[in-house]
Amino acid sequence: MRVLVVGSGGREHAIVHYLSRSRHAPEIFVAPGNAGTARLASNISLPARDIDELLKFAKSKDIDLTIVGPEQPLADGMVDSFEAADLAIVGPSAAAAQLESSKAFSKRFMSEHGIPTAGFSTFDRSQHEEALAYARKLGAPLVIKASGLAAGKGAVVCETMHQAEETLVSMMKGRAFGDAADEVVIEEFLHGEEASLFALTDGTGYCLLPSAQDHKRIGDGDVGPNTGGMGAYAPAPVLTDALVARACAEVIEPTLEGMRTLGQPYRGFLYVGLMIGPDSRLNVIEYNCRLGDPETQVVLPLLETDAIDLFRACTTRTLSSLEVKTYDGSAAIVVMASDGYPGRYEKGKEISGLNDDADCESGATTCVYHAGTRRTPGGGTVTSGGRVLGVVGKADNLRAALDAAYQRVATIKFPGAQYRNDIGQKGLKRISSTT
Ligand code: AMP
Ligand code: GLY
Repeated sequence: MRVLVVGSGGREHAIVHYLSRSRHAPEIFVAPGNAGTARLASNISLPARDIDELLKFAKSKDIDLTIVGPEQPLADGMVDSFEAADLAIVGPSAAAAQLESSKAFSKRFMSEHGIPTAGFSTFDRSQHEEALAYARKLGAPLVIKASGLAAGKGAVVCETMHQAEETLVSMMKGRAFGDAADEVVIEEFLHGEEASLFALTDGTGYCLLPSAQDHKRIGDGDVGPNTGGMGAYAPAPVLTDALVARACAEVIEPTLEGMRTLGQPYRGFLYVGLMIGPDSRLNVIEYNCRLGDPETQVVLPLLETDAIDLFRACTTRTLSSLEVKTYDGSAAIVVMASDGYPGRYEKGKEISGLNDDADCESGATTCVYHAGTRRTPGGGTVTSGGRVLGVVGKADNLRAALDAAYQRVATIKFPGAQYRNDIGQKGLKRISSTT
């Protein structure tokens, strides 16, 4: 059994780690991978976006199964190309991936299929005046989004009308976000607490994975600019069993049904970003057509179902008969990032305190997933990205998982390392208020 994982972040390290625990003992290739995946798999130096070369590689190596981590190759049609060549691959087609790659598409889709989401309107570059009038009608706070893929940075929450006006000028008249802002979405601001739900679907059947909560802002207390995600924990207590059941009925099932009706059945991972309102109302903030990063690093360690059995059930379209088993505890991740991230940062800082042989062993309470790291010829590891690594703790409860993660974080050093000190606090508060 040969598996190819596409991507190079902490998410892909966690996917590789999950696969490495499979009883089918797959031979794993990662394109391009990172210093962490190199210990469990063969890194192939092909960029995640190079669909033609990846297809050639998969054919030449007789790859049985491919799993795509990031959104860009999915939006670019990687699944379409692999399926046309009869290769099994987990992910949506380019048309179905529009649920993430075009916010204008996904908002229209939700409104046409009765899926709850913030009120909105969409505008192209010629409609700056109309956009301004709509924003004034909504009033601040409001949210302005570039419709296309913008590496998670295309949504601007505008606290004031002045900020909204400036954002519209920079998106619609300037080149902020480039082509991704050829269409913009303006939407109502939703109050509440965010959480994410993940499903794996074969187009008809689906299974749920544990829910999670991300920490998008750089600073403690959710202040400062948005990042790719500075930490997460799973499951998210805010998503009670009753809310998860409602999310299935109000969001996931109508989404799969709607995509089938459009003739674009959705297959692969579906990530639903939800806002849970003070009145327990559910609204979809966004869809992603893939697993989240860093959420994957806390969701997959909780799965007791074999990785190959799970992924194969997706490609053979038998997910409705698969029962997903999960560990009845929690996992938490603290992301360690370079000084300056999410702005400019330096690379090449020596990392000390890693112990890859002991971390992530079966039964270990912590695991370090690499993201922006690089091995040096001398055998050391240096920083090579904004989010450098993520330290995961896994335990019977959220408090113990967080303690394990933070204790391990304290032993890993690199110059300028920054991390949030309040990961999981919302979850802990919610647990203590309900017990
Ligand atoms: P998105 O790229 O659509 O996920 O938006 C990024 C982040 O912006 C979300 O995770 C929220 O924190 C925030 N956001 C997006 N849309 C809204 C909304 N309608 N109301 C409140 N916050 C939002
Ligand atoms: N952590 C947010 C995302 O993966 O989109």
